[in-house]
Amino acid sequence: MKGSGMRFTVAIDGPAAAGKGTISRAVAAHFGFGHLDTGLLYRAVGAKGGDPAAAAAGLEPADLERGDLRSAEAGQAASRVAALPEVRAALVEFQRRFARREGGAVLDGRDIGTVICPEAEVKLFVTASDEERARRRWLELAAKGGVQSEAEVLADLRERDRRDREREAAPLRPAPDALLLDTTELTIDAAVAKAIKAIELRQAQGRE
Ligand code: CDP
Repeated sequence: MKGSGMRFTVAIDGPAAAGKGTISRAVAAHFGFGHLDTGLLYRAVGAKGGDPAAAAAGLEPADLERGDLRSAEAGQAASRVAALPEVRAALVEFQRRFARREGGAVLDGRDIGTVICPEAEVKLFVTASDEERARRRWLELAAKGGVQSEAEVLADLRERDRRDREREAAPLRPAPDALLLDTTELTIDAAVAKAIKAIELRQAQGRE
């Protein structure tokens, strides 16, 4: 399957802190695919400040290297600018090009399976209970010196999810043909194994 000419896109969507990033990185490493964390694009646009549409149009690789992009504040700023159609439009081309790169690609975000790559070979919609997502994100932020309580993290995720689901432009929702993966009761290894199996199944179909 590897080698020149191989195009294969895995779209991974879902609400905040459901495990998309962890699964995406593991899947990309397993298959040797490239990985694009599209949330980072919106976080970088929000963090740049100024006119969001101009920030999106002028986004540069260095903007994605900022150390503060994973904070809760950057997440909130991201979900505000992500509701603007001009911001989303400015980022479409880059994401689509990445998706069709040679050697395969995994993109994780909110609208990969619905808007960016409706033709992706594999689409996963990753979820977990609100409480479990808040617990995981709280642990992650606390390890980096975060000061929010678990309850504050939960409120933050819920506010962001509501904004992401209710916006008009590319709202968060599963593609009709997405495989739903609820990770509430799954270990990381078990969730990754399910994702890998779904991809192997699709690859086998492609060879038939
Ligand atoms: O890591 P986490 O799931 O908390 O968030 P993220 O994936 O980094 O995304 C941050 C914010 O960017 C989300 O709350 C969305 O508002 C926005 N986003 C989006 O609108 N579309 C995407 N494809 C990815 C992120």
